[in-house]
Amino acid sequence: MKKTILIATEKPFARKAIKKVQKIIRHVDDFDLKLLERYNNVDEFKEAISNVSALVVRSDKVSQDIIGSAKKLKVVVRAGAGYDNIDVDAATKRKIIVMNTPGQNSNGVAELAFGLMLGLIRRKYLGGPGTELKGKSIGLHGFGHIGKCMAQIAKGFDMKVFAYDPYVDSKVMKEHAVKACKSAEDLYKKVNFVSLNIPVNEKTERSINYRLLSKMKKRAVLINTARKDLIDEKGLMRIMSERSELMYASDIAPKWKVEMEEKFPMRTLFTTKKMGAQTVEANLNSLVASVTQIIDFFEKGDTTYQVNG
Ligand code: 3PG
Repeated sequence: MKKTILIATEKPFARKAIKKVQKIIRHVDDFDLKLLERYNNVDEFKEAISNVSALVVRSDKVSQDIIGSAKKLKVVVRAGAGYDNIDVDAATKRKIIVMNTPGQNSNGVAELAFGLMLGLIRRKYLGGPGTELKGKSIGLHGFGHIGKCMAQIAKGFDMKVFAYDPYVDSKVMKEHAVKACKSAEDLYKKVNFVSLNIPVNEKTERSINYRLLSKMKKRAVLINTARKDLIDEKGLMRIMSERSELMYASDIAPKWKVEMEEKFPMRTLFTTKKMGAQTVEANLNSLVASVTQIIDFFEKGDTTYQVNG
């Protein structure tokens, strides 16, 4: 019997990416694809997953309840980097492999970060004079795939690049001509722009707090294309109220989006939906990687990108 791969996405992949994986699947025996896009409720997801062997998701919530409905599920791939949307413990208990596709959508996210930076410093293109990136400094909080893409783009803008990442050797930063900082505080103190490029977990949750944000330079800009829960929103609101020159742009709407936009209209910028990885290129890269990883897992036992177990 064929193994069914379910692609369940509330925010659909580009048609080109879907067509590409349909073509891949046509060339391998034993697999077929099932699509669930823009679903309206958990029940639709539970129904669709009940009989499948593999699952591909984006930021879709894969809860214990969803996993419980998947009788034949063997592998879940998060088409992207951050897998905080998946209940990894529930999957592990059921011996389900969880994987991600690191690096596949990094460039899309990195380019969007600069789009947000430009949007803010050009005063939302409303006619008033803005400022430029050239000669300014950027601090990359996290130097993984996205951090590295950002460093490369920043150099094109003739910016000075700094980074802080306790899990990356300063030699690696040096190889990318990036100056290593010893702590997050040190980074936030030094730069005109801070970009968050770290995952959310028990160590980083709400770690971007008032104390850290108060270290930021005058007229600094904080860019969040990572996760909402990294930010202590109370602390962010407080520092934005106390310091009328700080700016915040995010690809993930804060809980207090409306209030923030009302209070600080020219100092905040938010996308309408999480858009960092929403490019044809990123969709192609991450979906092809996901489906290929699933086929390789079933055919060769390859678990290279496994994040649990
Ligand atoms: C990631 O972790 O790779 C990004 O946040 C992408 O999220 P998305 O697939 O929901 O666009």
